[in-house]
Amino acid sequence: MVSTAEKSTLSEPGGDSTPVTPEEQPLSARNENRSQRPDSEAFKAFMSSSWARKSTELPAESEVAPHAAKRRRAVSEKFPGERLVIPAGPLKVRSNDTDYRFRPHSGFAHLTGLGLDHEPEAVLVMEPTEQGQGDDGGNHRATLYFRELAGRDSAEFYANARYGEFWIGARLSMAEIKALLALETTDISELELAVTKDAGVVEVGGLRIRLLRDVDPNADALVDTSRINTGVDLEASDDLDAQLAEALSELRLIKDEWEIEQMRIAVAATVNGFHEVVKALPRALSHPRGERVVEAAFFARAREEGNDLGYDTIAASGNNATVLHWIRNSGQVDAGDLLLLDAGVEADSLYTADITRTLPVTGEYSDIQRKIYQAVLDAADAGFAAAQPGRKFREVHLAAITVLAERLNDWGLLPAPLDEVLSPEGQHHRRWMPHGTSHHLGMDVHDCAQAKRELYLDGTLTEGMVFTIEPGLYFKEEDLAVPEEYRGIGVRIEDDILMTADGPVNLSAALPREASDVEAWMAGIHSPTGE
Ligand code: GLY
Ligand code: MN
Ligand code: MN
Repeated sequence: MVSTAEKSTLSEPGGDSTPVTPEEQPLSARNENRSQRPDSEAFKAFMSSSWARKSTELPAESEVAPHAAKRRRAVSEKFPGERLVIPAGPLKVRSNDTDYRFRPHSGFAHLTGLGLDHEPEAVLVMEPTEQGQGDDGGNHRATLYFRELAGRDSAEFYANARYGEFWIGARLSMAEIKALLALETTDISELELAVTKDAGVVEVGGLRIRLLRDVDPNADALVDTSRINTGVDLEASDDLDAQLAEALSELRLIKDEWEIEQMRIAVAATVNGFHEVVKALPRALSHPRGERVVEAAFFARAREEGNDLGYDTIAASGNNATVLHWIRNSGQVDAGDLLLLDAGVEADSLYTADITRTLPVTGEYSDIQRKIYQAVLDAADAGFAAAQPGRKFREVHLAAITVLAERLNDWGLLPAPLDEVLSPEGQHHRRWMPHGTSHHLGMDVHDCAQAKRELYLDGTLTEGMVFTIEPGLYFKEEDLAVPEEYRGIGVRIEDDILMTADGPVNLSAALPREASDVEAWMAGIHSPTGE
């Protein structure tokens, strides 16, 4: 990385020729003390000149554009007469003046179609119109407010490390975004007026704003200030804002055909990542931090084929597999261990897979590992059988967990009779599987998380839903409630399911699930000819 000492922002004095005393210089400007960028007029003039003009050719409309328009139309239907403010979110500082790679809020990405790292600080505003006079006959006109890339003749081009093209590369221009997404675009400098204009108490003729809150502190401050200045009740507004978040979350419960294709892309890349991990196992076995070897092998595929990981990889070997969110991945991978790999590639469109396989690192399950593995697989199959259109989402979990309780009973591990255990007053079996069996999956790994309970857990499985089935059993090394042979074994099998009118489709079926198929698949990858 180029030394951050070269970085400066336009609002701060750049260069090393501005003499200031320590007392005069605010802390916020101290990063400048390392800057060695020249301050001369000759340098500035030369840096701002003789760059080729950007091509004026505009991109074709993206495939997602009509889908995103339909989604905006659905939101418009729910909130007629109200201004909707949906931010992408700001850049987030990782350390001092280095940021995390930008990832927009999923609600924003869903309504605009902008994936990848577009577009920090942008805000989608849906401005109410007369009923039916908005975009596509809806009740709103949508405009994307964002920070346009500064020209190559500007100081921002070479002097602004956070936004300048010289530092971070070209970003889409307003005209390009408009062409790509069929969405009106306006410079971010007009956002304040666009958000606050005519806003106020509805009962006295003001316009109501609803904000997707807690995404961008600047947008929150803008709306809050407007509400305070116009006498709008802040507490009541929180409820109105929450209803918008809920609506955007529920809008994603049913995936359209474009989204389903993106899920397939994410799953295919994830399957490739699992192949890479199996290939890397010999190295993992010989490395003091073998789990990191596994994590890195998967990550390479995530970056090569997709945008990123959909969530931090769980690469858990041996007893670490019993730690549900083991993302430290600092452990050894020892011969004879099971490796629980829970990983997902996030596609460029930001849709992610979420798949788990539990692999015998040396190629074959031991008897006790196989017994536990088979119980989990039986539970997953019971979940599949229950996952039929028209049934309740919660029934998938009930079916899977019941099988696990039966197996634990067969093995003599339950401290009470099965019927007592399965009753609401019992539930002892959940000691070994304390998590849920299913969650919606999409742009967020735990998608649609703000949906109402009646549409989520109590909702009906419907064509177009995508969700996981992921039972597991986790016997910790320190678990004295089970015989020693069980201890230190964790197994989860997780697949990504698309609900269709004809029943569930396993999107991740390309990865073997049966124990013998897993062994054969691993052996194939390690055979001299590979797979
Ligand atoms: N990887 C997180 C989950 O399976 O839900
Ligand atoms: Mn999951
Ligand atoms: Mn998972």
